[in-house]
Amino acid sequence: MSNRMWGGRYETGPAEIMEEINVSIDFDKRLAAPDIRGSLAHAAMLGATGILPEADVAAIRTGLETVRGEIEAGTFTFSRALEDIHMNVESRLRDLIGPTAGRLHTARSRNDQVATDMKLWVRDTLDGLDGQVADLMSALAEAALAHADAVMPGFTHLQSAQPVTFGHHLLAYVEMLARDRGRLADARARLNECPLGAAALAGTSFPIDRHMTASALGFDRPAANSLDAVADRDFVLESLSAAAICAIHLSRFAEEIVLWTTPQFDFVALSDAFTTGSSIMPQKRNPDAAELVRGKSGRVLGALQALLVVLKGLPLAYGKDMQEDKEGAFDALHTLSLCLAATAGMVRDMTPKRASMRRWAGAGYATATDLADWLVRVLGLPFRDAHHATGRLVALAFARNAGLEELSLDEMRSVEPRITQAVYEVLGVDASVRSRTSYGGTAPENVRAQAQGWIDRLGKPA
Ligand code: ARG
Repeated sequence: MSNRMWGGRYETGPAEIMEEINVSIDFDKRLAAPDIRGSLAHAAMLGATGILPEADVAAIRTGLETVRGEIEAGTFTFSRALEDIHMNVESRLRDLIGPTAGRLHTARSRNDQVATDMKLWVRDTLDGLDGQVADLMSALAEAALAHADAVMPGFTHLQSAQPVTFGHHLLAYVEMLARDRGRLADARARLNECPLGAAALAGTSFPIDRHMTASALGFDRPAANSLDAVADRDFVLESLSAAAICAIHLSRFAEEIVLWTTPQFDFVALSDAFTTGSSIMPQKRNPDAAELVRGKSGRVLGALQALLVVLKGLPLAYGKDMQEDKEGAFDALHTLSLCLAATAGMVRDMTPKRASMRRWAGAGYATATDLADWLVRVLGLPFRDAHHATGRLVALAFARNAGLEELSLDEMRSVEPRITQAVYEVLGVDASVRSRTSYGGTAPENVRAQAQGWIDRLGKPA
């Protein structure tokens, strides 16, 4: 049987494999709510402009609301023969209200319809993600405030570099996530133009009011060019791009949790709630949630890459290739949501092991820069000379398998005769972090102020 939505010139139905490759209802059923919302706005506009009699609009509205109720209740039967969500909804509407259902598609095409549906879905999803990012930021800022003065080794090249505070380290992620929110907000602001009324590609000869539908659906304005309106998937790309960057941030943090929870680092403990055991090694506590957050970032990146390739070289306006925007976007944005929730859960769950972090904070001559700075500040050495003298002291300590603070004053003076007892004050890790009071530095007072600032701006965590 040919398709009753478009099968006028068709005598037979599609090949089995044609239906198989063409069908999208299995995944675009997720667009049911935005699809009905868009149809209600379109129908109301057709009535207000006199394109359809009010009686027809009323019947369409009642019918669409019934369809919505059936979908929400889970009693709606989705049909693969009807290809996609748009035709599934319209076909059911026809069952319910008869041939008047066919008037809903006046001055509209599935091309502008699907672009509108997808924008509405992406917009709602971005709003949800934004709230989740904010929640994760709150969790991190709370932990940062609680551990503003917990010293830990700061790394470059994953080599002990200088002592930092745990709170400062967590706030670095808060900054990243704040930029992620900015990107999500930018994507949302730019997508907020309504494609509905662009029809198939050229606009329509009916006297429609695109401003009315745009504002009914919460868009700032109608999209200005009908070809662009149906061909544009920038909003999916931008959202996936913002999502990919956010997923990378989560992946970096997840990797740190994986490292920190090893017995070798032992900086942080996760409870039973966020670890799993091994079926063969009874001693193990594996940080699976962190590993999965790290791993799942690959899916988000992949979805962005896939859609970029789908759109590359696609001529204007609509091409069925664009149906491929959906599965990747649905999966990637859902995946990001899951990763954000799991990460917030881990942050609230984790216990920093302050003694262990402190033990390693001074290892690897991490206060060597403090020593060099002291030589500059107190003895007036040029920094390069101070760096050199400190290097020799590190070599001396290393040869003795000792820490810098374990060198005697005589040993210190063998390298730089003017060194005094006061130098030992800067060789401790607490003094080191306390001295880093430059704007954005790791000093506990800075960290406390910044963490409190974020908490105030974010409001109470959910
Ligand atoms: N399922 C289609 C999509 O997702 C809807 C638009 C189909 N348009 C068309 N002219 N066949 O892109």
